[in-house]
Amino acid sequence: MRKKIVAGNWKMNKTTDEAMALVSEVVDKVNAEVTGDVTVVLCPPAVYLATARQAIPSGGSIALGAQNCHEKASGAYTGEISAPMLQSIGVDYVILGHSERREYFGETNAQLAAKVNIALENGLTPIFCCGESRDLRENGDYIGFVKNQITESLFHLSAESFAKVVIAYEPIWAIGTGLTASAAQAQDMHFELRQHIASQYGDSIAQDISILYGGSANAQNAAELFAQTDVDGGLIGGASLKAPDFITVIKAAQ
Ligand code: PGA
Repeated sequence: MRKKIVAGNWKMNKTTDEAMALVSEVVDKVNAEVTGDVTVVLCPPAVYLATARQAIPSGGSIALGAQNCHEKASGAYTGEISAPMLQSIGVDYVILGHSERREYFGETNAQLAAKVNIALENGLTPIFCCGESRDLRENGDYIGFVKNQITESLFHLSAESFAKVVIAYEPIWAIGTGLTASAAQAQDMHFELRQHIASQYGDSIAQDISILYGGSANAQNAAELFAQTDVDGGLIGGASLKAPDFITVIKAAQ
């Protein structure tokens, strides 16, 4: 059975008081209002992860995620955060390969393969992001491009390891732009990606993998996006920064 997942990627937003207020509000509202079977993942900036862990009841439907980790376990990498560190403070998920990391920090498919490995070795569930630029969408083989991101960063995994990964399809032209993919565009790509996964790992694993949509998903459009057969929830940026909006998106995934 595929898991429904709604993850909130806060990116580089919120000061400590704001961050903890948002965590508490989401925890309270999820407990009071969300009855369905959906996993919520809160991904605040790394500096708040340890405090957020204390505020999120363990074993419930809310998990804690980091926005990145380094590909090495430890060493002279000033300013970086490792997967063992995240594991040691009780982090459950880690977003890897977000298009902002690929674009501004030069992350490559090969580097992301190493990050996926170390995340899995440390019991973290990778939320692996993929997606094409607007130029590719309009002028190129955008489906082939996204499939290749998955091939190069994930297809070295054993079936057992691959089955632990969550995929987030995030067309770059839709991130933070207010220009969301249509439900049909999301469904088409998710279907293609599931076929691609089936060609490598077989149908049963492909059917069980959660593929989230991200890119201007919000309280208004989430229900239509999540109603698509191959869309198993969302990776939410802007709309995860306000508890009422985020809760509406979570409810849309129930
Ligand atoms: P957005 O961001 O919802 O603000 O478009 C999504 C993401 O970057 O994960």
